[in-house]
Amino acid sequence: MCGIVGYIGYREAWPIVLKGLKRLEYRGYDSAGIAIINEGGQNIYKKVGKVAALEEFAESQDKTGTIAMGHTRWATHGVPSDRNSHPHTSNNNKLSIIHNGIIENYATLKEELISRGHEFKSDTDTEVLIHLIEEIQKIEQTDLLEAVRLALKEVTGAYAIVIMDRENPDQLIAARKGSPMVIGVGKGEYFIASDATPIIEYTKNVIYLNDHEIALVTKDDLLVKRLDNVVQSPLIQELELKLEMLEKGGFDHFMLKEIYEQPRSIRDCMRGRIYPEEGKVQLGGIKEFVEKLKNIDRIIIVACGTSWHAGLVGEYLIEEYARIPVEVEYASEFRYRNPIITEKDVVIAISQSGETADTMAAIEMAKERGATIFGICNVAGASIPRLSHAGVYTHAGPEIGVASTKAFTAQVTVLTLMAFYMAQQKGTITQSKLISLLTELDSIPDKIQIALESNDIIKEVAAKIKDSRNCLFLGRGSGFPVALEGALKLKEISYIHAEGYPAAEMKHGPIALIDEEMPVVFIATQNSSYEKVISNIQEVKARKGKVIAIVTKGDTEVKKMADYCIEIPDADEAFLPLLATIPLQLLSYHIAVMRGCNVDQPRNLAKSVTVE
Ligand code: F6R
Repeated sequence: MCGIVGYIGYREAWPIVLKGLKRLEYRGYDSAGIAIINEGGQNIYKKVGKVAALEEFAESQDKTGTIAMGHTRWATHGVPSDRNSHPHTSNNNKLSIIHNGIIENYATLKEELISRGHEFKSDTDTEVLIHLIEEIQKIEQTDLLEAVRLALKEVTGAYAIVIMDRENPDQLIAARKGSPMVIGVGKGEYFIASDATPIIEYTKNVIYLNDHEIALVTKDDLLVKRLDNVVQSPLIQELELKLEMLEKGGFDHFMLKEIYEQPRSIRDCMRGRIYPEEGKVQLGGIKEFVEKLKNIDRIIIVACGTSWHAGLVGEYLIEEYARIPVEVEYASEFRYRNPIITEKDVVIAISQSGETADTMAAIEMAKERGATIFGICNVAGASIPRLSHAGVYTHAGPEIGVASTKAFTAQVTVLTLMAFYMAQQKGTITQSKLISLLTELDSIPDKIQIALESNDIIKEVAAKIKDSRNCLFLGRGSGFPVALEGALKLKEISYIHAEGYPAAEMKHGPIALIDEEMPVVFIATQNSSYEKVISNIQEVKARKGKVIAIVTKGDTEVKKMADYCIEIPDADEAFLPLLATIPLQLLSYHIAVMRGCNVDQPRNLAKSVTVE
């Protein structure tokens, strides 16, 4: 988490860095700060709260200068406060630093530095690093680049850092390990940021810095070397991102825009990958592993949060169609077990951001043990696709709302394609079945469009249950991960306690919670478990629970029992998660808005969880 932005060039740096921080606010919004150098010296402004608070605080200050760097924080070490905000400075205040990540051995380094006379002004791990750099520069009598290189060899943990020296206003130093960093290459200017969004309106040419690389950036030149001192020739890539993708486009919130984008994002995800008339799925990203896929013993899916829910949907689909056993693991648990992994395993890592620390660690462990890694990721060029042997991008476009919506449905789409692809390669599906499934899949974006048309009814339901203190989401089969996802969406943006459960498990415990105060949302579409879900609905009604049911259009049975019904179009069971998720996203959204919550930036959360 945390977002970083740096600029060096010929333009006024403050507006560039400030705007960049606003774009990166999804990464954390506990505090913000900017350091800027001009002829008068270095000015540092920092403030607890959002970037807007910093903007107001610095309104009448001197903000001139053509070199600057800024930070938006998601607190780890030290409470959110002005003094813990970045940038942090060295003991002599000459050097300043911004940092995304965690310096794990900061406590021992700090003790050593204190014994050498250093005084600390914050509780952060980051401040320790800049003091260490200062100390090494003093002892080794080296230039700043070399001091940073030597200091980074002493630290453990993750970092994307930018460093400025007020006595050397012609350079920025940047480095990364485990946290993302993009360098924008302009003419007579360079930009540094956690992702490409602060850079896109100035240049399309970018370099993704690799782990263990350090860069010396001046306005006309860039030197990249590895921590072992070997100079690198960085690859300049062209961004596909468009500026309008980063704006709300008339919607009140990014989350709502992203919910409504789903017909488009799913179409983009399938483009060039399905050929319904021929009954063919093409996944260029994993095609060189096709022989391996025919002979694997099992698939392990690793992910966190919403991406883990997509993994559970993937389990149903891959087992159903490709007949390969699948295990779905929380990356954070998997990495600290001693799991049995062999060279015959394929590990699918799912991540919207491609930067989630636990998922990355799980990949590294599985790779060491010989597994083949497939990444499913939304952000191009992020760490997870780079760590993977092969993979498939979701192509959902930038997701800015902290609560994941269109990324989830795109992940499910990719997993559906993978299941069909593997089934086709292994011969576990007939050609006629594949043609019929692909033909229907092709129409799913239109069906999502129809599902979105229930918005007004969903708003009415939201008004009825917005003051609840708890809410239960129940589903069976692939409706279970949908229930989990519905519950997660509600709790993260509206702060209502919500649980997702397999409907049949209700009687083993959660049924004790049911009374007239408890809304229970059922995924009750007409599929193989329809009759059984109806029985579960009756169990809730018998205890005076309030039932909200997601039903197939034209349903009459559930309507007799439920307090409120929300219809979605009929579809093959394989596509139920893609459709049933839509009303749940809208339900959470409207409840959160009605409760006055900050939908796009819910408290305590960050979009990119780069710490474990
Ligand atoms: C919930 C949400 C999180 C993420 C999780 C994993 O709406 O967004 O639960 O799904 O932090 O993030 P990624 O997919 O970036 O690895």
